[in-house]
Amino acid sequence: MAITIKSFPDLKKAGKRNYQEKIQTRLASKTISPFLRNWAKGKTFNLQTSGCQANVRDSEIITAFLENLGLQHTDNIYQANVVIFNTCAIRENAEKKIYGELGQLKQSAKEIPQKIVAICGCMAQEEKPMRYIKEHFPYVNLVFGTHNIDSIYALLEACLTSENRIFDVISTTGEVVEDLPSSRFDKTKAFVNIMYGCDNFCTYCIVPYTRGRMRSRSIEEIVKEVNSLKEQGYKEVTLLGQNVNAYGYDLKDPNSTFDKLLEAVAQTNIPRVRYTTSHPGYFTEDVFKVMAKYDNIMPSLHLPLQSGNDNILKRMNRHYDSKKYLDLVKMLRSYIPDVYLTTDIIVGFPNETEEEFEDTLKVCKEVNYDNAYTFIFSPRDGTPAYYMPDDVTYEEKLKRFNRLKEVIDTSATISASKEVGKIVEVLFDTVSKRDKTMISGYSRHFRLVHVKGDPSLIGQIRKVKIIESHTYSLIGELLSE
Ligand code: 5AD
Ligand code: SF4
Repeated sequence: MAITIKSFPDLKKAGKRNYQEKIQTRLASKTISPFLRNWAKGKTFNLQTSGCQANVRDSEIITAFLENLGLQHTDNIYQANVVIFNTCAIRENAEKKIYGELGQLKQSAKEIPQKIVAICGCMAQEEKPMRYIKEHFPYVNLVFGTHNIDSIYALLEACLTSENRIFDVISTTGEVVEDLPSSRFDKTKAFVNIMYGCDNFCTYCIVPYTRGRMRSRSIEEIVKEVNSLKEQGYKEVTLLGQNVNAYGYDLKDPNSTFDKLLEAVAQTNIPRVRYTTSHPGYFTEDVFKVMAKYDNIMPSLHLPLQSGNDNILKRMNRHYDSKKYLDLVKMLRSYIPDVYLTTDIIVGFPNETEEEFEDTLKVCKEVNYDNAYTFIFSPRDGTPAYYMPDDVTYEEKLKRFNRLKEVIDTSATISASKEVGKIVEVLFDTVSKRDKTMISGYSRHFRLVHVKGDPSLIGQIRKVKIIESHTYSLIGELLSE
């Protein structure tokens, strides 16, 4: 099959920043041609999402585009006329998984006439994986990136009319797209993008290349979205950004800072507000002040440490040292003493020594995290850390990973056990798959709580008495209102 390469990913280009260029806001293009609408009649789609909340949010937008076209969702990936993989690039294993899943589609790509197998998301923004897909998966006939989701109708049409494989990945962008359609997956909790991209360039991280320059949405647009969610009955919003504390840097307006945005969102009176992800290097005390002032901003914080060693932090380009991090935690706890604190940690950064790793353990023991997401360093092609020499074996990294996990599990178990006997408010969001009489949700502190209860309570906030604790979940009893 011939290939139309409108644009192919280019990591070098993606890593460049032109701050002279002003960020433009434009409205999404949503026009559907009669040809495409006609084609879509009676046809189905399946969308597979991997990765972080930003991808989940993008998938909600893609789903809306496809549903508005008239395509019906199907769980059957083999029967679907359009299959889209919204991919993640943060670590190598996320990519390997996609190759496996694509392999399984070979037969159905032959059997279903005009089947569209598409790749989008962060992996689509990477050169090497897309070269691999081009060569090894000829039935992948559409590739688009994170910056041109709203070209989806034009791309589908190009794919159907030319019978060519279409590659259209834009490597740089200075745009914020508003008025995107959205088909939210959850009816209780919603993600709200407050910014796109990242300009920090931590040396291990591919995100600044795959999601581009940092672009903030206006406070006005964000508050409008939260108000609309509140009117629709949503109980919780999570404000999303790769580095929320840098929110507004690009807007160059003293009134567009993260603390001011957070306050404006809290003032909508939506019952629960959360945000993620924070960066310790950009955090200001004003954010803690706002968190302490508003009861509807939840007392939990995800504050990635990445490493507890100052040399490693410098080599990661993190813009803080362990003292600054620990001081920040102290300040946080002075405002919100019972805060639920979680983190991200990478072990086995290139040439990390035993002593440097032990510094990470030391900081973890000092902070006593309630939970942590721990990762073994995965070299990402095109990032500075990819080219750093590394003489630490994988076995050693795995040992360190397990040692770290033990420290985190210990602090998490102790922290969870202190909840027993407490009365907490839980926003219920799921019915247990295994036992239909059990429902689950999160407490204000972001603790997972399971209780015996009726599915009609989904979407409600109810008081629960905690009777049992596990390392990462609690069991409770519903209290009558
Ligand atoms: N290898 C391992 N972990 C990584 N993360 C980001 N890039 C890498 C990488 N190359 C982790 C960081 C980040 C989280 C989302 O993923 O800890 O905070
Ligand atoms: Fe990646 Fe660092 Fe940006 Fe987070 S702040 S997305 S870890 S570069």
